[in-house]
Amino acid sequence: MCGIFGCISEEALEKILDGLKRLEYRGYDSVGIAIINNNEIIIRKNKGKLNEFIENLDLNNIKSNIGIGHTRWATHGAPSKENAHPHTDCSGRIAIVHNGVLENFLQLREELIKKGHKFSSKTDSEIIAHLIEDFVNSGLSFKEAIKNTFKILKGSIACAIISTMEPNKIICYRRESPLVIGISNKGVFCASDIPALLPYTKNIAVVPEDKIVILEENKVHAEDLNGEICKLEYNEIPWNLELAEKSGYPHFMIKEIFEQPRAISDTLKIPLIYIDRAIEYLENKKVYLTGSGTSYHACLFGSYLASHLLSMDMRPIISSEFIETLSLFDNSTVIAISQSGETADTLNAIRYAKSKGAKIIGITNTLGSSITNLSDVYICTQSGPEIGVAATKTFLTQLISIILLFLRFGLKKGKINEIDYNKLIDEVNNIPKITEEILKKSDKIRDIALKYSLKQNAYFLARGINLVTALEGALKLKEISYIHAEGYPAGESKHGPISLIEPGFLCVFIAPRDNTREKIIGNIMEMKARGAEIFSIITEGDEEIKEISDEYFEVPFVNYILYPILCTIPLQLFAYYTAVFKGLDPDRPRNLAKSVTVP
Ligand code: M6R
Repeated sequence: MCGIFGCISEEALEKILDGLKRLEYRGYDSVGIAIINNNEIIIRKNKGKLNEFIENLDLNNIKSNIGIGHTRWATHGAPSKENAHPHTDCSGRIAIVHNGVLENFLQLREELIKKGHKFSSKTDSEIIAHLIEDFVNSGLSFKEAIKNTFKILKGSIACAIISTMEPNKIICYRRESPLVIGISNKGVFCASDIPALLPYTKNIAVVPEDKIVILEENKVHAEDLNGEICKLEYNEIPWNLELAEKSGYPHFMIKEIFEQPRAISDTLKIPLIYIDRAIEYLENKKVYLTGSGTSYHACLFGSYLASHLLSMDMRPIISSEFIETLSLFDNSTVIAISQSGETADTLNAIRYAKSKGAKIIGITNTLGSSITNLSDVYICTQSGPEIGVAATKTFLTQLISIILLFLRFGLKKGKINEIDYNKLIDEVNNIPKITEEILKKSDKIRDIALKYSLKQNAYFLARGINLVTALEGALKLKEISYIHAEGYPAGESKHGPISLIEPGFLCVFIAPRDNTREKIIGNIMEMKARGAEIFSIITEGDEEIKEISDEYFEVPFVNYILYPILCTIPLQLFAYYTAVFKGLDPDRPRNLAKSVTVP
């Protein structure tokens, strides 16, 4: 939820601020830095966004070649200057930044207060600095004090620490929360996510679970909490810097929407070996799908697809409800979907399923994330980094991955014949071209968004597999434009929701030319009869639905299983333009963060 950046490099402060800019999507309610100058730790922090922080930064040209920074999404303690990271010990010799949640901090904090420690914030994180100080005071070396601290702390942790006791080092530790390391001739770096390191290196290693990593000028060393040395595995990241920058677009969200043809095309090139390895875990298994938010919508898509293509029942379960919902895991596989690979709810569902003997197929956009470590086998979508808080390109590539997985499984198991398989694969391969065509018509959606941007409420209604699009369209609109939006099965709308309809109420219908169309027309008429304003996503040339809609957007005719991909795009654009017309920042919606690492 928070972003950490640290470096040992020339002009460290400038690099820390640039790193935090690239991590701001992870949290943006407060920000802070700590640098070492003349063997003194200098801290600046405040509530608010990074730009304001930089404008007011009063460092009078102080130079430093070592420091850490943090951008926060509040969990314990409201957004405020006191609660912003970095936090220090009583003596001011140790500064820490932390991402995660400490479960046993209350009890430890009380013990430390009794020993005389003075806390300045309401955060759980501050305890890290005081615990280290306490162990140092008891005679341990700085490194041993850090190890003992992490041995007793429970919860999720990504942490970077500097100290005047060892002013040439940054010591990092990771458990459950993400942290990566990079090294090049420009310096040594640590960060919560890869995009922050791309200006300096593509040679990046994920900090292994439960290890400390010590950064020094030109060298990096890793060991476990018992002192056993471990090797870091560096990978050459294929992303270029452009993917992590706005490249002329006003926001990441719109850039990422327009990147979808490329992201889909790259995902279609996933080597078959990955798909085939995953298939082994589907054979003769009871299969569940789990994810959160947009990724849950991908699970729902998987469930419809399994039933239609494979005649298999696969239950989709929202990750935060997973443990409450399931108890029996006989011969089961869980397909866990998460673009970040770090969502706490999804990781908890995975751990629970594994503890009951289930196998895990992970689908994620983040190689080296926790989900890739926890899964028996994983498929990595090829979206490139997604910085906008709203999931867009990663959602479409999740759908593509599921299609590839189930089509191939269907072919292997004789549930889909070769002719149908080839026909469908040809259609899927054509999707990047079709999505480009849809994006060329973005102006039409902009006009529709302008017309409806002052609405207070909207229903997104659909039937069958298109319900996935309705739920996703509603989530996108509500999360970035703050319009109350609900996705609903159109058939169910008569059983309660229709009572809210009055003249001018916006109803968005996902009504492509498939077997749901006739019934959807009936639902449109019901809403229209009560004065609702109708905006329909339809198949090209559907004059009948055009006639009964106030606004419409056309997508090309495709096999019905592909409509959720095509019909989602205009709704992403609709949400984006609505937010922009309302003067909101679509990349940083209030109260949200890109990866939700708290349960
Ligand atoms: O990283 P994940 O896919 O696990 O994230 C799950 C949700 O938090 C995420 O999809 C969220 O709903 C999106 N911001 C919606 O746009």
